[in-house]
Amino acid sequence: MLTTISTFSPLPTHGIAGDPQAGFVPLASRADGLVGSVIDSSTSLLAAQKHDIVRFAMGAPAPDVTPWEQFRDLARDVYDASSFTYGATEGEPVLFDALVEYSRHTPEPVDESRTVITTGGMQGLDLAFKLFVDPGDLVVVESPTYTNGSGTALSYGADLLEVPVDEHGLDVEQLESLVARAGRVPKAIYTIPNFQNPSGTTLSEERRRRLIDLARTWGSVIVDDDPYGLLRFAGEDVPGFPALMGDDPLLFSVRTFSKILAPGLRVGWVSADARLRELLIAGKQAMDTCTNVPNQHVVAEFLRRGGLDAHLEGLRSQYRKRKEAMQDSITRHLGDRVRTTDPEGGFFLWMTLQGEDAAIDSRRLFEIALAEGVAFIPGTALSPSQRFSDAFRLCFASTTPERTEEGIARLARAMDIARAEVAR
Ligand SMILES: Cc1ncc(COP(=O)(O)O)c(C=O)c1O
Repeated sequence: MLTTISTFSPLPTHGIAGDPQAGFVPLASRADGLVGSVIDSSTSLLAAQKHDIVRFAMGAPAPDVTPWEQFRDLARDVYDASSFTYGATEGEPVLFDALVEYSRHTPEPVDESRTVITTGGMQGLDLAFKLFVDPGDLVVVESPTYTNGSGTALSYGADLLEVPVDEHGLDVEQLESLVARAGRVPKAIYTIPNFQNPSGTTLSEERRRRLIDLARTWGSVIVDDDPYGLLRFAGEDVPGFPALMGDDPLLFSVRTFSKILAPGLRVGWVSADARLRELLIAGKQAMDTCTNVPNQHVVAEFLRRGGLDAHLEGLRSQYRKRKEAMQDSITRHLGDRVRTTDPEGGFFLWMTLQGEDAAIDSRRLFEIALAEGVAFIPGTALSPSQRFSDAFRLCFASTTPERTEEGIARLARAMDIARAEVAR
């Protein structure tokens, strides 16, 4: 029998229609879950500006604290033909050797049988949600959160449950009651336990333990995303999920060199139950075959030569000074017009407008501030349901105290203009 066109299933109705001249583009329904990242887009937006801007927007280490000259010298020493061919999907053996050796004396020793090298933390998050989330599964996210992470869960069809964060991190009591109200248990709980992006807060040990109990009761995976843990510059260390959970199969840890070395390297790693390793490798093979090989060799050599501890020491001291400088500038220029969190490490302060200023929408403030020469990430971009129009994220790590002073002065001017607009 001849197959006619009518025996095929109907043409997809899902797609980009718009201008009939341009034609219909058929799309998978999954494409609806691709939400894009305001955080990432701010890089191009800022690059396109011609005037001077103090950049509190991106969470990137400052160029002046990036050891790029050492990378250049290391590259000259370590690059050979093997650095420029395909590498093993799970990661370069030299990087594993160096990472296992380096981490032996840290609270989180890396076990190669549980670990896969990834293309930054983002790929770790993608692998986590790819492995654990079916369309319609409930995934808990912090509110506010790193929306690249929640966006990744959305891209796999997750239903997100936003749970508030306070000064001790994710509010685990509210988590319990919100899950009870949702009437179903989460498949995964996405948390950034240390110096959270964007709030700067740290999940207390008591809450970590309670969260682990809940995850075990519900059978939920804890996606423990911790890019900033090694950047503590004040207060006491809190035991991490790997220390508290051991080899529990419900733990999936995402780590990256982006914040402790440089984000352009795109090198990170995930640690999970050893039985998942083949699946992680298969999942990664479907994405990018292997992580950038030359950069893995540079990172491995940096670790092998013992450079990381001294580098981290320098970062912590710089970031403490930069955070304090930002707080001083805020006190000087904004006083009680704003309230901020007081991070003990990492990159970010969370600023909430107070009093009459609370009526300002931080999206509008962003436009005015950009024109005034200062940039941040509006709060709404840090919540999947666009909460926090009265708040925003400031990165203190990328700017010197002098630039920060100038940036906060510009922010105060922008707030004056925005407040006058609201009053009109
Ligand atoms: C909490 C969190 N997770 C993951 C990432 C992504 O890390 P990477 O740049 O290594 O992909 C970031 C970067 O901002 C982050 O803040």
